[in-house]
Amino acid sequence: MCGIVGYVGVQEAAPILVDGLRRLEYRGYDSAGLAVHNGQSVEVVRRSGKLRELEKALQETPLTGAMGIGHTRWATHGKPSEVNAHPHTAGPVTVVHNGIIENHLVLRQELLDQGVELQSETDTELVAHLVEQQLSQGLDLVGAVRAALARVRGAYALAVVSSADPTRIVAAKHSSPMVLGFGQGEMFLGSDIPALLPYTREMTFLEDGDVVVLEATRATLTDLEGGPVERPRQHIDWSPVMAEKAGYKHFMLKEIFEQPRALEDTLRGRLDREAGDIVTAEVGLSDEQARGFSRVTLLACGTSHHAAMVGRYAIEELAGLAAQVELASEYRARSAVVTENELVVVVSQSGETLDTLEATKLAKSKGATVLAIVNVIGSAIPRHSDGAFYTHAGPEIGVASTKCFSTQLANLLMFGIWLGRRRGGLSAARTRELVEGLAHIPSLMTDLLTSMKTSMGEMARRYGGAQDVLFLGRGVQFPIALEGALKLKEISYIHAEGYASGEMKHGPIALIDEQVPVFVLVPRDGNYERSLSNLQEAKARGARVIAVASEGDDAVAGVSDSVVAVPPTDPLLLPLLTVLPLQLFSYYVADFKGTDVDQPRNLAKTVTVE
Ligand code: G6P
Repeated sequence: MCGIVGYVGVQEAAPILVDGLRRLEYRGYDSAGLAVHNGQSVEVVRRSGKLRELEKALQETPLTGAMGIGHTRWATHGKPSEVNAHPHTAGPVTVVHNGIIENHLVLRQELLDQGVELQSETDTELVAHLVEQQLSQGLDLVGAVRAALARVRGAYALAVVSSADPTRIVAAKHSSPMVLGFGQGEMFLGSDIPALLPYTREMTFLEDGDVVVLEATRATLTDLEGGPVERPRQHIDWSPVMAEKAGYKHFMLKEIFEQPRALEDTLRGRLDREAGDIVTAEVGLSDEQARGFSRVTLLACGTSHHAAMVGRYAIEELAGLAAQVELASEYRARSAVVTENELVVVVSQSGETLDTLEATKLAKSKGATVLAIVNVIGSAIPRHSDGAFYTHAGPEIGVASTKCFSTQLANLLMFGIWLGRRRGGLSAARTRELVEGLAHIPSLMTDLLTSMKTSMGEMARRYGGAQDVLFLGRGVQFPIALEGALKLKEISYIHAEGYASGEMKHGPIALIDEQVPVFVLVPRDGNYERSLSNLQEAKARGARVIAVASEGDDAVAGVSDSVVAVPPTDPLLLPLLTVLPLQLFSYYVADFKGTDVDQPRNLAKTVTVE
């Protein structure tokens, strides 16, 4: 998730572009750059690091001119560095891009075979070269962009300028967002509303497949074939702060509702639905290595640890491989034994958590092969690992992790499927089922989130006054129970316990009375009957039971005080759905209590102390 901006008009472009980027920094902040046409040519300034580094550079090397494009980056291909920062240039062509080009490996190889010299590790530079090749065939800029995009698969919001034309920006969109802003004799472009709000409130949202030529006095919209397109103009009356949160009250709520999009980005290019398989070329593990592993150890902290627990169930079930999960701090606190041919999978949103980083180094020093599942590209943990399988959730601002959790689950499930297929434990038919199941998860998430918009608020009002809340789950739902309890503790400061349903009678059952709401995760999976018995045991002791169950389950509805119904999917994929009501419940309880949802007391987003 990156931010892009564009300006063409009568004013100096650079200050407007920098201002727009500042308002988009929530979309990414590992590097930034501008390209401005000075009337003769396009000049580019880029810097690694936060936007202020770019601003400092612009003081030394000011860019002048009334047309330009800009970018704030959240790395998806290639570590954060000046050479990987946007804009990217090929001959007269300069490009900024937000998105992920799925077929970048194939395109890169083709260009290298043609003798093209590539400067960066990014997928975006490839687009610049494709456009440049089309320009040199005699096409005009918009024609060249269309022809280049015909070769590209994936998600993009692109803005392209040419040194041969100081009056036009060509932009195109597929999957990634893009908004046009209409001024008086000037036009604006941005990934999102906040970039444009100080300058205009008249905006047009582009749709997938739209290509636009932006000039100072007009925007000409076409489709990818060049046919005319019309999009409505809208008046936006949001405040700038509301706009950054896309109208949501808190980043956490925005990030909860962003999960379908985050999942799509994470799954993009990794599900081969035609072959019914998972693509993990980027990870750098060979099929032979996959067959040779003797055991998997998963290491993580906090929410990432709960994702790792789900990963354990997936790896054991799909790959038939012994797997264990460790808290990174505890792994360091004992004399952990690394067996021969052991794979250590490290899970971390930030890639910087100190305990997880130190555990990574320890495992590596003891001879393990280390694979990092991390959200922040180029962070410390992947740098100390043998390979990385990145989640593409985009920056997560809320301290309580939500969208990063679900994308971690997705990567762990994909990795489990990949391992299972290579090791022979997983049939082609089941692999195909799981691949299809994953492909459908984003739309199931959207439906479920939409259906809970008002009901979870009511549920939070009904149960949110409790002093203690219990969350029960069995099998792959046990880590989700732990995650539900952690979310509630983190942001609403209510005491909550996550427990394995089967263990309830060994302790927590003593806590149960009419005051204690008990969430029971009881979707239809291999543990359904036993989980239902546990639900009834809680109910029989007077608990107020909130069941998270499969749609149409009358047996559960008959014995529960409240039910959240989740749509059917493969039982192994259900955690991606059952976690959603628990995240929303915590959010609404915290919001009613008036806590600082995005920055809860005593917590930090990234913990770099022991
Ligand atoms: C902190 C955050 C949690 C996160 C944990 C691990 O406690 O508040 O949201 O789960 O660190 O962080 P990591 O970046 O390694 O996933």
